Amino acid sequence: PFVVTEACIRCRHTDCAVVCPMSCFRAGPDVLVIHPDECIDCAVCVPECPVGAIFPDTGLPAGQEAFAAINARLARHAGWPVITEREAAPADHARWAEVKDKRALLAA
Ligand code: SF4
Ligand code: F3S
Repeated sequence: PFVVTEACIRCRHTDCAVVCPMSCFRAGPDVLVIHPDECIDCAVCVPECPVGAIFPDTGLPAGQEAFAAINARLARHAGWPVITEREAAPADHARWAEVKDKRALLAA
């Protein structure tokens, strides 16, 4: 499956969720995640993300490997709703796009 990585946190543009043919995305307060059991590896979502947050689990960038399990855990157990329509990004998304270490902000 594909995986939403750290760059999404507090940028949360939601462009990805609109194009997914399988409605894989789940909406948390600060980030979206992909349900790994639903993703068909079509890669359609990848170019939609303005901050380049989405990668295949087989090709995660260095330091982002933990996000495969983070997506799986949050998609399966956090109770976050399916998202298929665009929502406004946070007003301060551009500032958060400059921050590299954001995973501590994820609600557990
Ligand atoms: Fe949805 Fe395709 Fe992205 Fe998987 S790779 S989350 S199926 S758009
Ligand atoms: Fe996040 Fe990019 Fe989607 S910022 S919500 S993965 S478009």
